Amino acid sequence: MYSYQDVLSEILIDEKTLQERVKALGEEISRDYEGEDLIFVCILRGGAVFLIDLMRHVTVPNQIEFMAVASYGAGKRESSGEVRITYDLNSKIEGRNIVIVEDIIDSGNTLNAVIQVLSTRGPKSLYVCTLLDKESRREVVIPIRYRGFMIPDKFVYGYGLDLDEYFRNLPFIGVVDLEKLEQVKKKLGNG
Ligand code: IMP
Ligand code: MG
Repeated sequence: MYSYQDVLSEILIDEKTLQERVKALGEEISRDYEGEDLIFVCILRGGAVFLIDLMRHVTVPNQIEFMAVASYGAGKRESSGEVRITYDLNSKIEGRNIVIVEDIIDSGNTLNAVIQVLSTRGPKSLYVCTLLDKESRREVVIPIRYRGFMIPDKFVYGYGLDLDEYFRNLPFIGVVDLEKLEQVKKKLGNG
């Protein structure tokens, strides 16, 4: 296995900047839901690190639920319009305030499907909180209420986002150098 340094092009968002923004988002959610309670629906696996940090800055009563989806062409760096739920919520969301927590919105296909499914279950409200927004790649319109950062069209990893399922534990968001990645994989004989 290669290391994150082998394929790092640059650190796009450092740990301090991330933590400050996540705290601000948690505080904003706390203000908006004053007097209410809510369920965070975290999209696995990328949204998990963000959720765990975010919820610690939320002061209104909240519950967490998880959902996992697979899109056609998984393993590739593109998602498709066809999304399948591989792990569903464990509780009813009828009449509840829902905040979907996602790591990144790229084409928007994944979240679009999740929003459609959840909205058929009669929530009181349904909003999206995403850490990253790669807006230039959007294929479908996604209403985003809470957004951590707009980012350019680059492949990023760390803080929940994976590169070949690794490096989700990095405390920052890094940009992958795709040339270095190809070279290192060639050397290791698995690319
Ligand atoms: P979308 O359906 O195209 O919006 O893709 C969303 C999903 O693709 C995200 O939840 C991520 O799992 C994955 N993804 C998109 N861009 C990146 C990236 O730059 N790094 C890591 N994962 C990404
Ligand atoms: Mg994801």
